[in-house]
Amino acid sequence: MRTRPNHTGIPAAGTPSTVLVTGGAGFIGSHACVELLDHGYELIVVDDYSNSTPQVFARVERIAGRFVGAVYELDIRDRRALSAVFDRHSVDAVVHFAAHKAVGESTRMPIQYYDTNVGGTTALLSVMREHGVHQLVFSSSCSVYGDAGRGPLDETTPARPTNPYATSKWLCEQILADVCRRTPEFAVLCLRYFNPAGAHASGLLGEDPHGTPDNLMPYVAQVAVGRRDRLRVFGDDYATTDGTAIRDYLHVMDTVEAHRVALDHFIDGPGMRVFNLGVGRGSSVMDVVNAFSAACGRPIPYEVVGRRPGDVPELVADASAVARAWGWRPTRDLAAMCRDSWHFQQLNPHGYAGSARRPATKE
Ligand code: UD1
Repeated sequence: MRTRPNHTGIPAAGTPSTVLVTGGAGFIGSHACVELLDHGYELIVVDDYSNSTPQVFARVERIAGRFVGAVYELDIRDRRALSAVFDRHSVDAVVHFAAHKAVGESTRMPIQYYDTNVGGTTALLSVMREHGVHQLVFSSSCSVYGDAGRGPLDETTPARPTNPYATSKWLCEQILADVCRRTPEFAVLCLRYFNPAGAHASGLLGEDPHGTPDNLMPYVAQVAVGRRDRLRVFGDDYATTDGTAIRDYLHVMDTVEAHRVALDHFIDGPGMRVFNLGVGRGSSVMDVVNAFSAACGRPIPYEVVGRRPGDVPELVADASAVARAWGWRPTRDLAAMCRDSWHFQQLNPHGYAGSARRPATKE
């Protein structure tokens, strides 16, 4: 482990300097690469591009003004390939984003979700242990709370996952807690995100899922740019102010800042800590539609359809624990998320398709 200058120029002794990012080409992963490069980290990235594209790295490098580092196309369940990456590089810590994340799809393909999300995490953990790497930031989800009722939820809220995606994240949390109990050197920082949205302010990076977006904000953005004719609002008969479901949307740049702050906190010692990442404010589907419409200056056509199976009426974070522990608080609001998402969509009406590719790291 080396001493690394942080953004204030003050050396942060004892914090990791070489970070392996799984799923680094994805929505949150690519923004995290920018954030970590901006703060002096050396990166090794692995991704299987199942819901992302390698084109994103040329953009990450343009924003950061630095090379990403070594990038490997691999599936984290492939222990041999993953182990070879750890053999080749001296990794201090891992930020683990790689996972499937579509709730609806998870109900149709539970085996694939458990295999990739849980099997991928156990493969990663065994390779980390074999190589003496014990620091992990894990990407968990507010979906572990399930239908927990109204009001902000803190980390003591009992888990009641309602779909295989959520259960896969909850199972990973249980496995990580067991690993920390068994191997006292392990330090795991488990971040339960509420609803990350938005894009990098440059308009170069954003959310570009393969196929039809499952998530609200990228769907609305594609309607706004004319790629889709209208949004389908999944239910307006919830017991909420306007009848549509309420979520806690968190700017992707705030989300990735929290990961960078997490890396500074391995110094607090081993064991597992779990934190919510959210704004602490609920927005309904119609709030998002109206905010996006204000950002792009045109109405968003929509129709109300039935509820989506597995959806819950309301999920809002009590994110005060992470603010107390690390001083991390989000600074960007829903208007900023819509503005940045629209900026990305306008500059990239067809996502990353057709943009320049960065040369891959040779095996
Ligand atoms: C879910 C997970 C969340 C996870 C995220 C990753 C739950 C409760 N939450 O978020 O933990 O990080 O997936 O993908 O499982 N909506 C529409 N029309 C659309 C799309 C969405 O009305 O075309 C509505 C949904 O019904 C929901 C809201 O918009 O009320 C947000 O949906 P979405 O963006 O898919 O995220 P979640 O399902 O909340």
